[in-house]
Amino acid sequence: MDKIVIEGGHRLKGAVRVSGAKNAALPILCSSLLVRGASVFHNVPKLNDITTMGRLLERLGCVVTPGRAFRVDATGVEQFEAPYELVKTMRASVLVLGPLLARLGRARVSLPGGCAIGARPIDQHLKGLEALGAKLQLVHGYVEARAKRLRGARIVCDVPTVTGTENLMMAAALAKGVTVIENAACEPEIEDLGRVLEKMGARLSGVGTKVIEIEGVDELRPIEHTIIPDRIEAGTLMVAAAITRGDVLVEGCVPEHLEAVIAKLRAAGAEVDLEATGVRVRVRGELRGVDITTQPHPGFPTDMQAQFMVLAAAASGQSVLTETIFENRYMHVQELARMGADIHVDGRTAIVRGGTRLAGATVMATDLRASASLVLAGLVASGKTEILRVYHLDRGYDQLEKKLRSLGAVARRVRPRKSAA
Ligand code: EPU
Repeated sequence: MDKIVIEGGHRLKGAVRVSGAKNAALPILCSSLLVRGASVFHNVPKLNDITTMGRLLERLGCVVTPGRAFRVDATGVEQFEAPYELVKTMRASVLVLGPLLARLGRARVSLPGGCAIGARPIDQHLKGLEALGAKLQLVHGYVEARAKRLRGARIVCDVPTVTGTENLMMAAALAKGVTVIENAACEPEIEDLGRVLEKMGARLSGVGTKVIEIEGVDELRPIEHTIIPDRIEAGTLMVAAAITRGDVLVEGCVPEHLEAVIAKLRAAGAEVDLEATGVRVRVRGELRGVDITTQPHPGFPTDMQAQFMVLAAAASGQSVLTETIFENRYMHVQELARMGADIHVDGRTAIVRGGTRLAGATVMATDLRASASLVLAGLVASGKTEILRVYHLDRGYDQLEKKLRSLGAVARRVRPRKSAA
């Protein structure tokens, strides 16, 4: 398995461009299942999760041509099963449920089960699809869904769910009549999916707010679309700039998608300037601790909590972080503690006492954003940090170590030697 080795203590300087958003690309690739014909998506990031999604779409009968311009021809889709092997490696596979049901009237999708960061049920996806007229059964660990033609309905989500809202939007786009999703999630990735469905010919309003209205149509058409930039990758690079007391222009990101993150960087003492080509982050003085509570968008994103924990450890003073979205998203704490961070977790709250210089160590990545936090910790730690199990990082970051290297970090990937046969 690959590892990343970082020599800490280098200030980051220069400009770096963010890739397309993983969490926008995944639902958007699934939306191609709604259409007979080939859709082309630009700015698709090169990530393991995208490869997995490509494999799943192929398995369903799509002709997939991967690349930054990613082509999916879903004309021949006949299969309706997302098997356990694929769903267990990537929960976002559940995003084929809505489109398959809408297009084929049938879907069989493995239940994802729990995952490292929490239980993550899909009850809201299922409740919404039932409201649209689907008959659902849980059989041998699979959700089996059937519907002759979905019918528009009013759906009130108990919690705002990102992939749940996306599944329901895609299902509703081919339903008969009008669907209203209340307490919908408002993340920018949902807005991007909304733009895609509109281009395909669906009629939507309210996307990006808590109430989305979708008027279904009989048929959708293939499209071309450019995926939005990845706000979490951008935020991660901004934190890298801040903690190394660097000066970095994060190019191509959308500042409006990052308002909560930028506000906290400023509160921590970073200078954040919105420039014509991106967001410049500089730290000339001291970094101060900041308190953070994760919230659905437009609040502070849970996907940036682990990275800000490293900032809190590198800053002076105390920070209180509260994770409200997932119940087990503090797995990076033990690894950061091994590097000398002073963190006390009590339930969903983590108290970080900053001001200690982290020391390089061998640490283990446990999930995607936890891995990113270990890379960041390595940038400021004294000496060498080795991060093992970086396949977690590769699921969601497009060559992060290469981008950091281009800014002056000393970071390299070490691949295991092939044993002589
Ligand atoms: N929830 C339910 N029932 C449901 C669905 C969700 O109770 O049917 C709960 C979850 O357990 C959680 C909360 O609602 O407590 C929010 O979960 P959500 O469904 O919004 O998360 P998701 O759709 O599974 C997406 C991202 C995650 C990101 C979260 C929150 C994708 C593919 N994944 O997950 O991204 O953390 O939204 O913003 O879009 C990542 O990229 O590292 C990542 C984990």
